[in-house]
Amino acid sequence: MTPANPGPPGSVDAVMQALAERHYLCDRRLATAVFLSLKLQRPLFLEGEPGVGKTELAKALAAVLDAPLLRLQCYEGLEIAQCAYEWNVARQMVEIRLAEAAHAIDHDRLVRSLYAREMLIERPLLQALSQSRRPVLLIDELDRADEPFDAFLLEVLAENQITVPELGTIKASAPPITLITSNRTREIHDALKRRCLYHWVEFPDAERELQIVALKAPEAGERLARQVVAFVQRLRQLDLFKVPGVAETLDWARALVALDASHLEPAAVHDSLGVLLKYQDDIARVEGGEVARLLAELGADAAPR
Ligand SMILES: Nc1ncnc2c1ncn2[C@@H]1O[C@H](COP(=O)(O)OP(=O)(O)O)[C@@H](O)[C@H]1O
Ligand SMILES: [Mg+2]
Repeated sequence: MTPANPGPPGSVDAVMQALAERHYLCDRRLATAVFLSLKLQRPLFLEGEPGVGKTELAKALAAVLDAPLLRLQCYEGLEIAQCAYEWNVARQMVEIRLAEAAHAIDHDRLVRSLYAREMLIERPLLQALSQSRRPVLLIDELDRADEPFDAFLLEVLAENQITVPELGTIKASAPPITLITSNRTREIHDALKRRCLYHWVEFPDAERELQIVALKAPEAGERLARQVVAFVQRLRQLDLFKVPGVAETLDWARALVALDASHLEPAAVHDSLGVLLKYQDDIARVEGGEVARLLAELGADAAPR
């Protein structure tokens, strides 16, 4: 193994450790899913609440493998032109003008040059199939795309190829390392799931979330970090419209540091709730007695010493 091409980690423990070195802390089950997906060369389908670390995993994995990361952010109305390829119409026009100017149009030759490979603008799916280095392909928030897209994707993943009608079939020599994420705003088609290994990503438990805060917002210090994490973990148990993700925990810890709060106290919590909760209904629900109750639950630890 050369440093330029480190190869995939050889065990579940090695996956955990390599991801941790890239500041991604995951539990054994998720590390196992990643390991198997690499080993069996199967796409990994990650489902979970927003903010549990699905997108971040793909970034960390690309860093671990020293592989290019190709990201396809899905949205409603996503079309082949944005996800796979489109013809470079401007270049095609130039080609036609040049042929016209030459006054001797060879029709067949012109058509061939108009639909040559270099006239294609490659979008992430096609890029993923035509790279010389095996990339990490992140198909992010697939639930945002319309259902027919699942079928198109299934074909791409099953065959590792895309057919461009005017040009032919473009096939990858090795399948890209594919991660698909969904926030589960709709069910993803069964056939697509069957192609993949599946993992439901949970919020980190308090211990792991504390490690994440220590790693990514060390300025918070241990005591504040501990309180922030305990508070957020309790908040997640409430029936909120949108519970805070790990990014919100980190933002909140940083915000409290910016407000010079060395520990959680009611005023600072009230004033900074907008960092944690992004819906007025949720803020209103928590603002009343709930903040006081949660702080009381944190107990003596929350009180200044
Ligand atoms: N296991 C983890 N280790 C380190 N950081 C994490 C972890 N999970 C989440 N994060 C942090 O939380 C942020 C939000 O995670 P993200 O991947 O965007 O969530 P999702 O894609 O599931 O909505 C990331 O930018 C990252 O800083
Ligand atoms: Mg995401």
